[in-house]
Amino acid sequence: MELLNRKLKQIILKAFCDAGYMEEDINIGDCAIPKFGDFSCQSPLFLAKKYHKAPFVIASDVLLHLQKNEIIVNASVANPGYINFFIDNNYLAEYLKKYLEYVKNPLISKNKKVLIDYGGANCAKPLHVGHLRSADIGEAIKRICVYMGDDCVGDAHLGDWGLQMGMVIYAVWEKNPELVYFDDNYAGEYPKEPPFTIDELKVMYPSISKRAKQDAGLYEKVKSITHDLQSGRRGYIALWKHIVDVSKKLIKADYDKLNIHFDLYLGESDSKKYQDEVIDYVIRNGYSRISDGATIVDVSMPDDKTEIPPFMLLNSAGSALYSTTELATIVQREREFNVDQILYVVDNRQELHFIQAFRCVKKINILKKDVDLKFIGFGTMNGTDGKPYKTRDGNAMQLKELMDMVKNKALEKVKETKANYSQDEIENISDVVAISALKFADLSVFRSKDLVFDVDKFCSFEGKTGPYILYTITRANSILSKVPNIEGNFTLSDEDRKLALCLIKFTDSIQSAYEKFAPSYLCDYAYSLANEFNAFYGKSSIIHEENIDKQYSKLLLTNYTKDMLKKCMDLLAINTLEKM
Ligand code: ARG
Repeated sequence: MELLNRKLKQIILKAFCDAGYMEEDINIGDCAIPKFGDFSCQSPLFLAKKYHKAPFVIASDVLLHLQKNEIIVNASVANPGYINFFIDNNYLAEYLKKYLEYVKNPLISKNKKVLIDYGGANCAKPLHVGHLRSADIGEAIKRICVYMGDDCVGDAHLGDWGLQMGMVIYAVWEKNPELVYFDDNYAGEYPKEPPFTIDELKVMYPSISKRAKQDAGLYEKVKSITHDLQSGRRGYIALWKHIVDVSKKLIKADYDKLNIHFDLYLGESDSKKYQDEVIDYVIRNGYSRISDGATIVDVSMPDDKTEIPPFMLLNSAGSALYSTTELATIVQREREFNVDQILYVVDNRQELHFIQAFRCVKKINILKKDVDLKFIGFGTMNGTDGKPYKTRDGNAMQLKELMDMVKNKALEKVKETKANYSQDEIENISDVVAISALKFADLSVFRSKDLVFDVDKFCSFEGKTGPYILYTITRANSILSKVPNIEGNFTLSDEDRKLALCLIKFTDSIQSAYEKFAPSYLCDYAYSLANEFNAFYGKSSIIHEENIDKQYSKLLLTNYTKDMLKKCMDLLAINTLEKM
């Protein structure tokens, strides 16, 4: 389908050329003053210098050469050189119908294979607020990329190979040193069931990690267990598998609640099979050097403004690190998934790690094709003091605590308005409202910026919030349910135009969201559409409208708005409600 923007460009560009301004492109945007036009071309302002003419003169020339067409009406020139114009009402109505069909399933041909690395939860550790942001933003980016025609795979890239694994193994040993996992002479099969419950696992890491911070001996012990695990000690590997399996279930349940679904639940450890090859390759080809016993790759460049430290391949104990698995994982993704692009949706604070990793990949020239590696950083969720949101004892805020706070606030707000609902209904509605509040707040700020956790604001039914969008959808639904199916002609009256024009702007917003990997553009769009719809609802009497064509058209617009808002929320991976 040819989009309106393109058609407008063609028509107006032709007028520019016919008037002697041989341009290849012009810009068309919204008209700043709605009573002067729906759209406006500002290009004369930028061309004045080139043609040595006043913008107003250029705009007037162009207007004279604007050929009669079915789309543009009432074009005029305004100071200092704008060409303003309206879209013909009949054309807009016809276009809108086709546009909304097209938007449902745009049939964009498959562009490229993209792997999105997001979530990044760590096995045996509870999810914290940073993981929430990564998961929310990553899931939305994945859906946006799929919509735009990319062939996407989402990978949770679980942290399952680091020190925390050594900690949990230590905790199990401390409690039950007699278990076969710790017996070097044991050659039989290991038990199928884990030697701990989910609840026991939940407390193991936090407690050992706290103790290891104060006890250097314990820390060393944990490090050596981790090293033995990574070197493949049989009993540790068997125990580690239990830890990973149980953790994955916990993590998956948390993500499911947030409507976040990964195609792959691979972990850092899954790149193990490429690790030795990569290390060997780097050393053999002379890309690394030894510094203080560690094997490192220099990745600094002459024009670096800040120092970029070397990328560490092996530490002085010969153990692989986060950086090593990063490298091996890139190789794995190229070989196993044949990716063209990898997007890393990770906290801004890890940017340096990725700069190093990407440079290292380039330097060692290990990939067979040019894979586009992109760091899609995001800011922190801060408290009102502007610092990363922490619990009272100074730890990173856990997802569960955060969700509980939001849920309680949502419950309060829903109760205020839905006094006659049953307890169950209120609970269900509040769950959806709470998750929409948290996710929409997380997504509505441009991703690289920090955001302030403000539970009152997030849960409000007014303003740029998830609950406001949810409420608008249910309002549209309630109108639609009050009027039986009617037939008529689709026409647009003046009070419908703004809503109609807003509906056709979806493609611009998804295009920006796609290009900048920023779901916030879709949030902005959904918010402006909800505002337009509520204004339209305020001005029009839909249910009591007596002219059948007018009523039919308003109902159709209501339905279109509802579908469009739901589409946006679906792309943002936020569930909605039919009624509340
Ligand atoms: N597990 C890591 C963390 O919690 C995030 C992983 C991000 N992805 C990656 N490929 N390094 O910090």
